[in-house]
Amino acid sequence: MARTTSPTISHRSARLQVVQLPDPSGDESLAVAVRDGLCSTPKTLPCRFFYDAAGSNLFEQICDLPEYYITRTEDAILAESAHEMVAGWVSDPIMVELGSGSSTKTRRLIRAALNAYARLRYVPIDVSRTILETSARSLVAEFPNLRVRAIAGTYSAALASLAINLDRPKLFVFLGSSLGNFTTDAARSFLREIASVMQPVDRLLLGTDLIKERSLLEDAYDDRQRVTAAFNLNLLTRINRELNANFHLEAFEHRAIYREDQGRVEMHLVSRVDQCVSIADLGLSVEFRAGESIHTENSHKYTVERLAELARSAGLAEESAWTDPDGLFRVQRWMLSR
Ligand SMILES: C[S@@+](CC[C@H](N)C(=O)[O-])C[C@H]1O[C@@H](n2cnc3c(N)ncnc32)[C@H](O)[C@@H]1O
Repeated sequence: MARTTSPTISHRSARLQVVQLPDPSGDESLAVAVRDGLCSTPKTLPCRFFYDAAGSNLFEQICDLPEYYITRTEDAILAESAHEMVAGWVSDPIMVELGSGSSTKTRRLIRAALNAYARLRYVPIDVSRTILETSARSLVAEFPNLRVRAIAGTYSAALASLAINLDRPKLFVFLGSSLGNFTTDAARSFLREIASVMQPVDRLLLGTDLIKERSLLEDAYDDRQRVTAAFNLNLLTRINRELNANFHLEAFEHRAIYREDQGRVEMHLVSRVDQCVSIADLGLSVEFRAGESIHTENSHKYTVERLAELARSAGLAEESAWTDPDGLFRVQRWMLSR
């Protein structure tokens, strides 16, 4: 099938547009990621491929788990201070959200912005097309003064497309500690990428998880109901379906470990046995030794000092910040440094 090379608009109405950015090709496709990641030592897979429709649903379930303090803590911070987070412009800024998912917590920001400015344009960006479109439809139904331009695509492709399209003040929103999925160098580069499309009037609202005790961190990524395990293993189901592979899910075990030296929780899929997996569409056979892992996700945890250093190195400066009473999570509003 031919790849699309320019954005397509799959839905258009007075208040809702859904834009599909071109299919990932080259470096961004699942095929390239699987070939590169499973042929390297140690084996890795990028976490953005967790989020097919099933993966996004599982992530929504994770957000409600008792162990996953991240969502409810960030939500409580937003509930308390959303009006301050969206303040500062004479008329409505455009709210651009990276990795918006179900936009559940973002509703607090949307409501606060509508109270302040009476109307709002919201641009959610997500690789997971189904959840993006479903939440965009429910948002326009819920908020009569909201216009939504939903962009299905990767962060980088969407940011590049925005640079030429948005000439109004913008509030970038990046919640859920998704920045933590980047290594330190990649986080710095990504923040620079955001900074490169910001004007002095624009702001970045960033939600980040803070370093805390090991047991809380590991439980958050290895819950008793095994929803996170299902989320991690769903990556193999996706590769089976999309690349015609024969991973046996029961032959892999979900593992989450906090690496204090790296300040991050790592998720792995560990082979329970010596085995060989075939990925027919890539003409590839991959050998696994018992105990060998595929590293599927990093979730970096920050100190306030590390965050300040990251901001500085990306050409950004802190304007305000909010935390919960227990100091578990931090939301900060950054601007271009002068
Ligand atoms: C950890 S979830 C956070 C969702 C939501 N923002 C929240 O705070 O609950 C990450 C979201 O980012 C999306 N995502 C992950 N990597 C992405 C990428 N490279 N480009 C665009 N979206 C991505 C996923 O589909 C998912 O919806």
